[in-house]
Amino acid sequence: MSTVYTIAVLVGSLRKESINRKVAKALADLAPANLKLNIVEIGDLPLYNEDIDVTPPAAYSTFRQCVASSDAVLFVTPEYNRSVPAPLKNAIDVGSRPYGKSAWSGKPGAVISVSPGAIGGFGANHHLRQSLVFLNVPCMQQPEAYLGGAGAVFDDAGKLSEATQPFLQGFINAFGAWVEQHKKA
Ligand SMILES: Cc1cc2nc3c(=O)[nH]c(=O)nc-3n(C[C@H](O)[C@H](O)[C@H](O)COP(=O)(O)O)c2cc1C
Repeated sequence: MSTVYTIAVLVGSLRKESINRKVAKALADLAPANLKLNIVEIGDLPLYNEDIDVTPPAAYSTFRQCVASSDAVLFVTPEYNRSVPAPLKNAIDVGSRPYGKSAWSGKPGAVISVSPGAIGGFGANHHLRQSLVFLNVPCMQQPEAYLGGAGAVFDDAGKLSEATQPFLQGFINAFGAWVEQHKKA
């Protein structure tokens, strides 16, 4: 049997009815056989503070362990004020410490931004990529994934629209190949 890679999925929105969370779940359903997607919760992480990290809170340690034990990372995020939502940036910062022991380093990654707006969270997507360059996350370049008009992607029953399904399928299939190609030795 071929290897199954565990993917830590970080969702940039904390709200219950988040479209991004629904997209993350749809991607988990569509994922190819070599990927197993698990959403890692970030809402309870205390704001990053080096002082409290002298004796790390349990939430920091658990989160770091979750990322460190995953084979790859997938970010599904809205755009807040043309950038990365604060909870997601906080999670990235928590995972990057202690210095020299970043949980992110070398893990293949991908970003999909999702917005009801027309430009699909392009600003958030690329601000996030800027951090991922520094964090040594080889981030899938193509296909780019800016899912605009996302208010119409799920119907009232939560069903994914048939028009969007092939786009998400193509994205997650490409990520399966990306992880295989860039897995950490
Ligand atoms: C503080 C805040 C800032 C936002 N800024 C943007 C923005 O810059 N670009 C954009 O497309 N949408 C923006 N939005 C709208 C979000 O895209 C929208 O609320 C979206 O549904 C959030 O994703 P979610 O459904 O996963 O929670 C903003 C929303 C909030 C709450």
